[in-house]
Amino acid sequence: MPETNKLNVLIMAAGLGTRMKSKRAKVLHQLGGLPLITHVTRAARTLNPQSIIVVVGYQAEEVEQVVRAEIGELAGFALQTVQRGTGDAVESARQLLENSDSTLVILSGDVPMIKSETLVKLVEHHRGTSSDCSVLTVRLENPTGYGRVIRDDYNAFARIVEQKDATDEERQVKEINSGIYCFNSRKLFQALRSVEPKNQQGEYYLTDVPAILLHEGEVVTCFLHQDAREVSGINTRAELAEFENLMRRNTVRGLLNGGVTFIDPSHSYVGPDARIGRDTIIYPDVAIEGNSILGENCVVRSGSRITDSRLGDNVTVKDHSIIVDSDIGANCSVGPFAHLRMNATLEDKATVGNFVEVKKSRIGRGTKSMNLSYLGDATIGSDTNIGAGTVTCNYDGVRKNETIIEDNVKIGSDTMLVAPVRVGSRSVTGAGSVVTKDVPPDSLVMGVPAVIKKSTK
Ligand code: UD1
Ligand code: CA
Repeated sequence: MPETNKLNVLIMAAGLGTRMKSKRAKVLHQLGGLPLITHVTRAARTLNPQSIIVVVGYQAEEVEQVVRAEIGELAGFALQTVQRGTGDAVESARQLLENSDSTLVILSGDVPMIKSETLVKLVEHHRGTSSDCSVLTVRLENPTGYGRVIRDDYNAFARIVEQKDATDEERQVKEINSGIYCFNSRKLFQALRSVEPKNQQGEYYLTDVPAILLHEGEVVTCFLHQDAREVSGINTRAELAEFENLMRRNTVRGLLNGGVTFIDPSHSYVGPDARIGRDTIIYPDVAIEGNSILGENCVVRSGSRITDSRLGDNVTVKDHSIIVDSDIGANCSVGPFAHLRMNATLEDKATVGNFVEVKKSRIGRGTKSMNLSYLGDATIGSDTNIGAGTVTCNYDGVRKNETIIEDNVKIGSDTMLVAPVRVGSRSVTGAGSVVTKDVPPDSLVMGVPAVIKKSTK
């Protein structure tokens, strides 16, 4: 039966990753702010497969959750309860894939830098050569630890031998198995029945399958890839840190090419999904994480973190500010030492200054809160001034209550706004007021609790 054009992907991700010395499954460790497995599922998805089957074992539920969040319905899972080797990992997906009659691409959850283009080329090679098995290989100066690819006298694939089972002579071979393969799924599962755990580790090796297929007269080829970094696996924390560095450098280089200034690129932390507009200047020790989008001509000073937030054009973020899950309009100024979180929204030209925390609040156009304030669950109109030390007392011990401050209001220093409460347009609160009742527009209130002193009209 000829192989059809159908394609499935299998990702092996059941192991703990002993060498990470962690309680967390290796594939859940983060690289560039995303779990390792997410990088792999993203690359896999670009092949437009029918399904992406992930072999889970250690912390299966957590891994499944992360995979579903990224690829949803495309994902399928095979549970490998005891990790008896990569052959056994594939075996655990037999029911899901054996009869799929498709090309099966096999990936490892701990090889996160793999590029979509490379996978496409591997599949093209596999189909172009009518192979039943294609092994993605690379040459390494130091191949220690990897399975070596042994070729015959005609330079064709013969077998893979693992480091621990290799002779001294075999260990000299620099061409290694990347652990990435393309198989005729039906033939793979047939051959898998012949794999035995007769090796140093007593494991079922997937790496025995290519030679088994070859002996059965099937076509097995190597696809020699040039970029070794792309297929190197992460086994230790040192390697994780090295890759983090590499990925970050790539991201920053892309942004530099796109017209963003980095004062010190080696000390700038930008996640792979962040977008930054031209002529924006990023100072050292700034972290821009998640799905953050920064406009053009912004300045972000040192010590600041921006996570999953959007900044319009011409925004200045002064030193040591934290902006999480928030939206900032054009021409705004934030910080130093400001904290914006949980859907804080700043309309254009608003200013949030020194030691001001804004939580789940909307700050109107041109409104200023310059110093030492807490604004939570508040809606503040335009051109209002919030005096130093103002607090929206939003929590009564049971629920969060809202504060509404209308346009052109002047909140005096140290005003306590005991929510729920509303301050009408153009009103003024005296310094130290404790506002427990709604303030009508055009009035001056002061005192504890604040009472209306006069109309300001
Ligand atoms: C494997 C290959 C080796 C290759 C290297 C490339 C085998 C026997 N060896 O070695 O030839 O050079 O990858 O990186 O395949 N896993 C499971 N269940 C298991 C065992 C492993 O799901 O029972 C998963 C791991 O979680 C990991 C992947 O398979 O994501 C690879 O396993 P690992 O133990 O890291 O294999 P290597 O020793 O690196
Ligand atoms: Ca590995």
